[in-house]
Amino acid sequence: MCGIVGYIGKANAASVLIGGLRRLEYRGYDSAGLALLDGDVLHVSRAVGKVANLNESARADWDAELFQRAGTGIAHTRWATHGPPTEANAHPHLDESGHIALVHNGIIENYRSLRARLEKKGHHFHSETDTEVLAHLIGDCDKGDLLQAVRDALHQVEGTYGIAVVSSHEPGRIITARRGSPIVIGVGHGESIIASDATAILAHTQRVIYLDDDDIAVVTANAVDIRDLDNLPVTREIAELGLDAAAAEKGGYAHFMLKEIHEQPDSLANAIRGRLDLQIGSSVLAGMSTSPRELADISRVIMVGCGTSLHAAMVGEYAFGDLADIHAEARQAAEFRYRNPILGNRDLVVAISQSGETADTLAAVREARQKGAFVMSLVNVVGSTIARETGRGVYLHAGPEISVASTKAFTCQVSVLLMMALKLGRGRRFSRDEGLKLAREIEAIPELVRRVIAQDDSIAEIAARYLENEHAFFIGRGPMYPVALEGALKLKEISYIHAEGYHAAELKHGPIALLQEGTPVIVVACEGPAKDKTLGNVEECRARGARILGIITESDHEAEQVMDDFIAIPAAHPLVATIPATVALQLFSYHVARLRGCEIDQPRNLAKSVTVE
Ligand code: M6R
Repeated sequence: MCGIVGYIGKANAASVLIGGLRRLEYRGYDSAGLALLDGDVLHVSRAVGKVANLNESARADWDAELFQRAGTGIAHTRWATHGPPTEANAHPHLDESGHIALVHNGIIENYRSLRARLEKKGHHFHSETDTEVLAHLIGDCDKGDLLQAVRDALHQVEGTYGIAVVSSHEPGRIITARRGSPIVIGVGHGESIIASDATAILAHTQRVIYLDDDDIAVVTANAVDIRDLDNLPVTREIAELGLDAAAAEKGGYAHFMLKEIHEQPDSLANAIRGRLDLQIGSSVLAGMSTSPRELADISRVIMVGCGTSLHAAMVGEYAFGDLADIHAEARQAAEFRYRNPILGNRDLVVAISQSGETADTLAAVREARQKGAFVMSLVNVVGSTIARETGRGVYLHAGPEISVASTKAFTCQVSVLLMMALKLGRGRRFSRDEGLKLAREIEAIPELVRRVIAQDDSIAEIAARYLENEHAFFIGRGPMYPVALEGALKLKEISYIHAEGYHAAELKHGPIALLQEGTPVIVVACEGPAKDKTLGNVEECRARGARILGIITESDHEAEQVMDDFIAIPAAHPLVATIPATVALQLFSYHVARLRGCEIDQPRNLAKSVTVE
């Protein structure tokens, strides 16, 4: 979604800001803009489309010396909510006087009433955005102290925001604040960088400060002064990012998605390393920080998430039920709090999110905490809001996931969920030997995935046979049902082929009416208790002329025979097999999208981190 970068310091601000916006491109956006402070003069440039367009238009608008000279500025990539992606709607927005510029992530919910009030006072608006209202409001409150003006304005605002504000009357500082939309401040030597996402900071410093909700910071080149909305000083620790800047580069791959698929043996090894105890046949997840007694007390596991993370939760539902004999539910995070969930202190609520910023998942976390559940997170981005609000949890250690289509985060989520289920299962019903057997299966996951990735070229050849159809169905049973859902999501989001995932048994209750000669049905039919029934469903599809691509277990000749095409994955426990099966589908979707000429890493209309409900 929208991205913010702000810079103040000794370097050329324009280059830092454009470089930062490029690093945020993966979040998804449709226009971009930049404001530079040159002494006490404010310059603004905006462009529809890519950051490259902004770079061009800013260079055309401004003389080269300004580009080199200015040491302070703010910049933004906008993902349209209020008003289409036009130059007028792009940020930064200015106040009525034109000396204050603002970039904003989030939504000002009461912008209509604020705008009406400001219009009555003579303010003129040039965009359809909620953000411009906040810029005018700050200007309206400005009596010569920008910090005070921002604070006064924020007191009147309902909704969410991460903002950066500059004023040509106070050129030595940037004001930044957050409520519900992340802001992180990089603390360099003689320079400070503000961003909505640490990826924009990585190249400059590893030392960062995360703002909490209702923090307002005055950022100068050499200091960060943080206050609350009542102007009381607050202390926030400086944290180390611990991320390698190269991890956020393509490293020779055509797309981030392909790189991230190929990284999975390593990311999975990182997610698993040190977390299996092969002596006692269990797992060691420090972030769960529960005593055996507390673990034994857990009566339900409820997992909340959205999109791909919800699919991981659905695999988790099978894992907790099958391995730990515990009632488990995967719940769509956006629905969770509106269903008034009945929760108690024996319920473990696990928030699953790659970004740790998804608004719906965060809202579910808050609801679960409010109701007294035991809440933990399973998050990839260190220091993200969900990780910090839950306080306890297990990081995925997948490394930066840049492609909008989630790949390595999903497989790491599932592997951590398997380890959690192993831990709970070992505390309840597993013998040491049973625990050990599963622990060894989990330990082998990176190698299983490596063997699927080794088939990349042959999967590309298969994908070439599935380019022409505009509809596709993905089916599976048991834990392969969420894998089928995930396969369909992957294909539709990057190739724009209409793909639906169904439980294999559901097809005949309606969707089978859509099957025609050659309609692709992608079936996940690996060895396991549900395989024979799934193959029965395949026959139903074949009888209606569907073209079948099977994800099957190596050397399963029976399954091979009923498939038009197949991708074979190594034999594994049915829950463990969800991971290599998903990787096969990721590669399939990637190659279909590539061969169709799609823009894989930033599909249309999508954002990497969905910070609005
Ligand atoms: O960051 P999160 O895992 O909370 O994001 C949730 C979804 O927006 C995300 O998984 C989305 O569905 C993926 N981009 C799909 O590939």
